[in-house]
Amino acid sequence: MPRLLKFIGVLLLALGVLSGLGYWALARTTQSWFEADLSLRSRLAVTAAHESLINHWRSDPTRLAQTLADITRDERIMAAAACSNKGERLASTQTFPLAFSCTGLMNELQERRTTGAWDTKSQLPAGAVHLSVIPLDDGTLRLGAVVLVHDLSFLEHREETARDLLLIAFFVLALVASLVTLLAARLAWRGWTLDLRRALTGQVGPDFKPLLRDVRELAARLADERRQEVRAGAWSAARLRATLTEHLHGERIVILANREPYVHQRVDGEIRVLHPASGLVTALEPVLRACSGVWVGHGSGSADRETVDAKDRIRVPPGEESYSIRRVWLSEAEEQGYYYGFANEGLWPLCHVAHARPIFRAEDWQHYVNVNRRFAHAVCDEVDTDDPIVLVQDYHFALAPKIIRERLPRATIITFWHTPWPNSERIGICPWREELLSGLLGSSVIGFHTQQHCNNFIDSVDAFMESRIDRETNAIVQGPRRTLVRPYPISIEWPVHWLAQVPSVEESRRLVRSELGLDADALIGVGIDRLDYTKGIEERLSAVDELLSRHPEFRGRFTFVQLAAPSRTKIARYQELNERVEALSIEINAKWSKGRYRPIALLREHHEPTTVFRYYRAAELCYVSSLHDGMNLVAKEFVAARSDERGVLVLSEFTGAARDLTEALIVNPYDLREASDALAAALRMPDVEQGERMRSMRRLVSDFNVYRWAGRMLVDAAELRRKERLSGRIRDSRHSQPGALT
Ligand code: G6P
Repeated sequence: MPRLLKFIGVLLLALGVLSGLGYWALARTTQSWFEADLSLRSRLAVTAAHESLINHWRSDPTRLAQTLADITRDERIMAAAACSNKGERLASTQTFPLAFSCTGLMNELQERRTTGAWDTKSQLPAGAVHLSVIPLDDGTLRLGAVVLVHDLSFLEHREETARDLLLIAFFVLALVASLVTLLAARLAWRGWTLDLRRALTGQVGPDFKPLLRDVRELAARLADERRQEVRAGAWSAARLRATLTEHLHGERIVILANREPYVHQRVDGEIRVLHPASGLVTALEPVLRACSGVWVGHGSGSADRETVDAKDRIRVPPGEESYSIRRVWLSEAEEQGYYYGFANEGLWPLCHVAHARPIFRAEDWQHYVNVNRRFAHAVCDEVDTDDPIVLVQDYHFALAPKIIRERLPRATIITFWHTPWPNSERIGICPWREELLSGLLGSSVIGFHTQQHCNNFIDSVDAFMESRIDRETNAIVQGPRRTLVRPYPISIEWPVHWLAQVPSVEESRRLVRSELGLDADALIGVGIDRLDYTKGIEERLSAVDELLSRHPEFRGRFTFVQLAAPSRTKIARYQELNERVEALSIEINAKWSKGRYRPIALLREHHEPTTVFRYYRAAELCYVSSLHDGMNLVAKEFVAARSDERGVLVLSEFTGAARDLTEALIVNPYDLREASDALAAALRMPDVEQGERMRSMRRLVSDFNVYRWAGRMLVDAAELRRKERLSGRIRDSRHSQPGALT
């Protein structure tokens, strides 16, 4: 109600202002109309008396005065005078004001050099008057002019009357408007409350039915989800397994990903099992450990062939053997064209805004097509039903979903793209953009880390493919098939199983400092990456340099440890990066070294997860400075490692993780001042603040862990599968009915 009163107040004010403006405009217009009217009347009066005026002009002043008196019978004409050209007053009515002299008026008329009448306004003590000076001629010569004086007091009177009327109109209007507003508000309120009451009691009008049905369905779904969430508890390996059994009846899953989770490598004559540095592996391995199934990947280790069975399979993890890896072998030429060439010199730079030019070669593309086919067939060989669940991973396999779909039309294919998906203009650079999109559209569901990447994908399909885009459900429809496009932000397992093998925070701090030859109270920052140009390693080291130059208190005290796993080393751009990073750390070390102190420790080799987690635990801060990154799981791993709720994450705003981990110090890695200030702020941050930030991020990562990521995708896939099975049955039953429309 107070709002309504305010509204009425504003309404009245607006009406008042409008009326004022209206009154002013009206007064001006009517005045100019009245004056034009007076001028016209004067000329008419003089024209009517023209003959009599000429006849008596000089000859008979009495008759001339009489004629002037006749003219003033018009109720508006107050007085009249006849003036000669020389300014003599030949005759006038008695009422003619003395203030006006014929001499002055005739001089004025002459100065104006006008042949027509001249009108002016003047103010007399008795009120305003209007003067019309109308020249008079006998057809050949000008005789003089007739001056008519009009009383304007009636005008003032009219204006007053108009103002009064307008005021009354304003009050009436304001009153009516307020009453109507009050009435409308009451009726609307009553209508809404009635509708709401009816809605709540289930009796609604036809207009509200669809809306309310949607609202009720949504509310029921949310309540149901909430109930399930509460009942099921936090997402864990066990819950993911239960989800698979409940929604997909315990079916196995088949993962297709180029990088295998366990690589058998011959080192010094012995076979060693390595865990590759790959965000994809970090995320997916726990998923497959939780569910049973097969991981189809490239057998890239030097001892991989020795360790598989006759069908190129091996049970993993060692000692646990809960799932299989099916290894696919690639020739050197295939690996060069498909992996190094098209995937990593073409698609990788295409998908990342990191200033590396994509290189597309026709030979590489041909290998990419053939290798996708080989892997897709390997997947089809691994399934044991005609409608399996296949999880296709990343940019190595854009064509595989379509090939799998051709062999297994009823398969549920979930494709997850681990890198960003660029905008449609950028995707347009790729000479085989249509083939890539068409390959991906063989999927049932395509997942990206963010909604932005989903939008970019849909726009790319819109730009280059024949299809219908259902923007309401974020689906792409091609003939009878739909592909859902959804964001599923990836995460890590919780708790991280490696932590069981990692020393406590205190012990890790001590060990790492002693390994690096640092003082016990040295401050440490860590960066952990593959040596990849998208990770912003050069910018990171430069930010350390900037920190030391702008914040001298950290010189001799702060060491940044960069663990850099060599990656894709056959590619020129990666070799160049390796050299530049090395040169830069030498340069920065030369600048700030003192005695034993070195500000940068660059450890360029493969590090096993237990080492990585020891460094996370030992550090004061972790700096993730990617120039562009789909998610970046290093950021989440650092948070998971810090069970002591200490340590600060400095995180690039260009990572998907920056959307989840908002309590990190978010920076633009290109802005060295900002980044170095963030590093300084991290090193100075009080324990209490570190604790608050870390607790909040740990809560988020533990809730939104990788089991939830996988679970959500599987539940969506299961729902889609149910719908497809149902519509398949409906189609089949239609076909079997004689004469049924198809
Ligand atoms: C990124 C990609 C993964 C890849 C990983 C390591 O995270 O999205 O697909 O496995 O880098 O790269 P690599 O070429 O060694 O597999």
